Amino acid sequence: MIARVPTGIDDLDLILGGGIPRSSNVLVKGPPGSFKTIFGLQMLYRNAVKNGTPGLYLSLNQPVGGVKEQAEQFGWSFDKTPVQFVTVDTTTDVNVERTVFEAIKKIGKGIVVIDSLTSFLNRPPLTPSEYVADPLLEPIKRLPGLSFSDEALVRAMTARFLRRLTVTSATILFIYENRPDSSDGVCEYLSDGILKLSKIESLGKRTLCVEKMRYTEHDLLPRNITLKENGISFER
Ligand SMILES: Nc1ncnc2c1ncn2[C@@H]1O[C@H](COP(=O)(O)OP(=O)(O)OP(=O)(O)O)[C@@H](O)[C@H]1O
Ligand SMILES: [Mg+2]
Repeated sequence: MIARVPTGIDDLDLILGGGIPRSSNVLVKGPPGSFKTIFGLQMLYRNAVKNGTPGLYLSLNQPVGGVKEQAEQFGWSFDKTPVQFVTVDTTTDVNVERTVFEAIKKIGKGIVVIDSLTSFLNRPPLTPSEYVADPLLEPIKRLPGLSFSDEALVRAMTARFLRRLTVTSATILFIYENRPDSSDGVCEYLSDGILKLSKIESLGKRTLCVEKMRYTEHDLLPRNITLKENGISFER
């Protein structure tokens, strides 16, 4: 039987047969203000307090102080929990991929929230030291008449990064601001699961939908969600 990690939202865990399969990589995607960060914090906090699960909130470029303050608004103080908050600066760290990978390895079977994968994809142009030749790509690049755009290179590196993370034991949430104009599809098919958060402005509603979760039978219905003083829950 597959071990599952509760999401911190009881009704969502019911849909998922107990939670997210442990050690999977899941995209939490949605537009700005759709509760992506709060969702990640809630999963880290509830698991740390209930089960002592180690956690890592990895912020790309944003200082973590504001995020901790946001968590405290819901009564989630991480002070006495095994959850760490770390910022990685993609503008100065020339080896972001390795920094992130090493930090995740240390968490073992815990939960990692990467906020956000979008910042990772949009990091500044790659330096030669960061680009380590990919044995799959190199022969293709040498084919006559083929040239690689920067975007294709970033996509290939992202694919390699996501593949690399599959060997870690952590359950990883990638916060992901999907951009309708881009072809980041690589992230969607390489991830084990996709939780989609939406805002329906005309109705003043927010929804959560399980778009994909490997090893799990689930429906595709969007559920109305709401934010209360103790966090995100399904509307009843
Ligand atoms: N204390 C609070 N009480 C009520 N609503 C709140 C509170 N804190 C945040 N919100 C709501 O949550 C939204 C922000 O949620 P969150 O930070 O999780 O969004 P996000 O999807 O991570 O956005 P971004 O892509 O900009 O990072 C706000 O727009 C607001 O509607
Ligand atoms: Mg956010």
